[in-house]
Amino acid sequence: VWDVRNYVHDLSTYPQIAEIIAGFKEDELIAIPTETVYGLAANAKSAAAVSKVYVAKGRPSDNPLIVHIYSQKQMDFIENIHPAAQQLMDYFWPGPISFILPLKKDSLAEQVTAGKETVAVRMPEDKTALQLLEIVGLPLAAPSANLSGRPSPTNYEHVYEDLNGRIHGIVRGDDSHIGIESTVLDCSSYPFRIARPGAITASMLEEVVAGCMTEADYTSDDAPIAPGMKYRHYAPNSPIQLVDGGISSSLQVDRHTAVVGPESIRFLVTGGTFYPLCQDEQDIKGASANLYDVLRAIDHNKEITEIILSGFKRDEASQALMNRIDKASAGK
Ligand code: TXA
Ligand code: MG
Repeated sequence: VWDVRNYVHDLSTYPQIAEIIAGFKEDELIAIPTETVYGLAANAKSAAAVSKVYVAKGRPSDNPLIVHIYSQKQMDFIENIHPAAQQLMDYFWPGPISFILPLKKDSLAEQVTAGKETVAVRMPEDKTALQLLEIVGLPLAAPSANLSGRPSPTNYEHVYEDLNGRIHGIVRGDDSHIGIESTVLDCSSYPFRIARPGAITASMLEEVVAGCMTEADYTSDDAPIAPGMKYRHYAPNSPIQLVDGGISSSLQVDRHTAVVGPESIRFLVTGGTFYPLCQDEQDIKGASANLYDVLRAIDHNKEITEIILSGFKRDEASQALMNRIDKASAGK
């Protein structure tokens, strides 16, 4: 673990920075912080490096990775960017959104895109990630740094828990303050579609380029989905019962039950163990930042055999959060 927290403002002065750079150049896997979730990074131009990512995570090889850059001048692997995609990139990068763009043939290791003709690209906002990308000077392919089927990691401990012994190292920076994965915007046909909801919503995109989003309900099941969305997702050891709309009356549970929800509903719950997700029902950002950490904490509590999760009002602001909650509770 390279703890760079005291060097966030000038990573080049970190004493072991040369080791980290050498690791990437020698095709090693290194986990890095980002504002969404920690990523497991590898040189996107090296087939040897990218192949190792799938092995370390236990990830199906037909599920493509996101390529991370610090500057648009690194995008020599893209061709024919739609002008609307260009405008959105200029506006939202660096930030929590990935764009699916046309790939220039043979310009990246083919394992990055699992043979597809498009590639997902993101410029993260996290200072450590951006500086690292600049210092290393390579585009880095990075899926979330969890074992396949586990919640995405939002701090270095989560990465350590899943991947210690399987990777070269972890760059310990700030915890991921957004806490759920980036919005994936499919720009392969116009108007664009959201392939995975995240912190950047369709109306935020529409505000920058009016008419750029399909009028269809972006959330509907027939929207084309990112390959990753079809796999079984993280489900905690104990089943989750989702209370859609949120717990609104008193609830008595036994000591084997974990109740998860905003602090503001704690007074309604008697018995069991309460795990606060955020301040109140409006605090979607807080809930998103804490969700994966809370689910991991519950998995560690061997007393727990059942989870009751108090849901949030379903609207555009809560769409990404509820998407992850629905997956974890598998519709129960
Ligand atoms: O926030 C994030 O996006 C994090 C951090 C590390 O940047 N990364 C992340 O990567 O969540 P991953 O691999 O866990 O998720 C990537 C998603 C998957 O659902 C994948 O199927 C989709 O993006 N994806 C990648 N390339 C694609 C492509 N060419 N076409 C369609 N979907 C693609
Ligand atoms: Mg992932």
